[in-house]
Amino acid sequence: MEAGNNMDLKGRNFLTLKDFTPEEITYLLDLAAELKRKKKAGIPVDHYHGKNVALIFEKSSTRTRCSFEVAAHDMGMGTTYLEPSSSQIGKKESIADTARVLGRIYEGIEYRGFGQEIVEELAKYAGVPVWNGLTNEYHPTQMLADMLTIREHFGTLKGLKLVYLGDARYNMGNSYMVTCAKLGLDFVACAPNNYFPNQELVKECEEYAKTSGATITLTGSIEEAVRGADVVCTDVWVSMGEPDEVWEQRIRELTPYKVTAEVMKMAGEKAIFLHCLPSFHDLRTKIGKEMGERFGIKDMEVTDEVFESAQSKVFDEAENRMHTIKAVMVATLGEQGTVYAG
Ligand code: CP
Ligand code: NVA
Repeated sequence: MEAGNNMDLKGRNFLTLKDFTPEEITYLLDLAAELKRKKKAGIPVDHYHGKNVALIFEKSSTRTRCSFEVAAHDMGMGTTYLEPSSSQIGKKESIADTARVLGRIYEGIEYRGFGQEIVEELAKYAGVPVWNGLTNEYHPTQMLADMLTIREHFGTLKGLKLVYLGDARYNMGNSYMVTCAKLGLDFVACAPNNYFPNQELVKECEEYAKTSGATITLTGSIEEAVRGADVVCTDVWVSMGEPDEVWEQRIRELTPYKVTAEVMKMAGEKAIFLHCLPSFHDLRTKIGKEMGERFGIKDMEVTDEVFESAQSKVFDEAENRMHTIKAVMVATLGEQGTVYAG
């Protein structure tokens, strides 16, 4: 695949998909598909020896951390994992100072943490590409994985209807709206009134939609939202870093928006289910068990039936985290020509 081979993203940060054109996003998806094909075929893409990346995680992670590490190692790079308690960041050393130090040692820096302004600040001072591994507001690497998964399944993205049920004002809801608006998908957020993305972001996305042909709908009606949907997605009701006190209210207010077999039936047989994971689809987790006992429930945002169904593509989606994260590193570190050469 040679499409987009001349797209130059070298030196760019990857902080939110708002910063990327539809063509650039499509290029990253094409690159990820090519890297995935090469990995499956056993064709190495490992011309990054001697380069190193820093992985800062102020919140926990399974997929994102493993994806960055495996992607970097596949390509011959070294990694340093900085866990929440193991660095000076924010405690004894400012973000700006940390950025200037790490920028002298590493070729790229991944950051997962709290406010988007932190990753923006890191990027401002680092002098090397900074990649957002999740903030309260955005989860852009997850979006590439989701779009690749959807494209692999349907063969296209434009014109598909993607419905997000649940807390749509946090990183996943915001990011889906941005990504769909950029790439021309019909985005529907289905939630109670106070769970929608903020008006400013909605307006920005409506502007993107004018060029891409996307539509943006915010509705409380599950039937309206889900009918004819191609992709049904959700996320946990309480995100990392939120206080324990919010669980009760979230469970009460968001339970009607759970993805159930009835919801998937309304969408139709062709619809797929996506979830960034981790997911509370049963009680086999510490928190799930605790909530099950406290509130007499056996699942939260999605039933086990849907999660385990043939319509659920969550593990394809999880795998694609690695291929898409690899594409982000290749594109922003440069030398992507070598990827297409082999
Ligand atoms: N989806 C996702 O970001 O997973 P992790 O929190 O495990 O990285
Ligand atoms: N909204 C979730 C996403 C986890 C990948 C969180 O921020 O915890």
